[in-house]
Amino acid sequence: MSQPAQIIDGKVYAERLRGQVGEEVARLKATHGLTPGLAVVLVGEDPASQIYVRSKGEHSKAAGMHSVTHRLAESATQDELMALVEALNADPAIHGILVQLPLPRHLDEKAVLAILDPEKDVDGLTMVNAGRLASGLPGLYPCTPVGSMILLRETVGDLTGKRAVVVGRSMLVGRPIAQLLLQADCTVTIAHSRTQDLPAVCREADILVAAVGRPRMIRGDWIKPGAAVIDVGINRVPFDDPVKAAEGRTKVVGDVHFKEALQVAGWITPAPGGVGLMTVAVLLQNTVIAAKRAAGLEI
Ligand code: GUN
Repeated sequence: MSQPAQIIDGKVYAERLRGQVGEEVARLKATHGLTPGLAVVLVGEDPASQIYVRSKGEHSKAAGMHSVTHRLAESATQDELMALVEALNADPAIHGILVQLPLPRHLDEKAVLAILDPEKDVDGLTMVNAGRLASGLPGLYPCTPVGSMILLRETVGDLTGKRAVVVGRSMLVGRPIAQLLLQADCTVTIAHSRTQDLPAVCREADILVAAVGRPRMIRGDWIKPGAAVIDVGINRVPFDDPVKAAEGRTKVVGDVHFKEALQVAGWITPAPGGVGLMTVAVLLQNTVIAAKRAAGLEI
């Protein structure tokens, strides 16, 4: 059997990036009297979103930022949410705004993103920032894709000329990571639920990014030996152990069948413990970038 893959420990890289951001925040405060400010908006009670939002609040405070979390009831109206975003747009102490997704079904996400100030869009989800990314212009880019690129550069190194396959075409991950891989001079394929012979397409990848939201969908024999595998999936499934499963206990797994992939890949991110941890660190970095731009400072 071949050597098992190197596991890319997201914790190490995320801690390092958060540390760098914390140092930059301290420098901005000391030399420019500038405290980067992040506002996170959560509507409703989704348990996973509550965990993510708490983590964003805690890490932004730990980095020395001004951090506010706005919690709106599940029953909040579109007008209430829009009014809150307008107020945050106008607040000079806030440099980054993140509206946690998904929103409750009665709310219109596109309408919210349409009024969000692109210069405060630390999620990189507005049309302006998506357009800047697609055009290769500086902007605020989505956090998980940026975090994935950091992990790839730290492990694989130079990505020039590599064949990259992204499975998934969401606005939050699939599309932006494909753009970033293209900027890094990869040859990029975006695969999705309608792709014919998906295993064969995946097998061509030197870099395989799984962002589909289907537990363990990508099997070991879909992976080219030695490939770098970035697993963006966060899926809750019953435990494999039937006793624990019968108790209704669940655990998180990725979109990649980790055990199988470990025997074939060259590098692989675990899920949890991989790229997910980078998301918050990049969010903090984006907030610092937004604050510096707003203050007219060099990035
Ligand atoms: N829900 C899951 N991931 C994200 C993210 O990166 N940003 C936002 N706004 N919502 C999310």
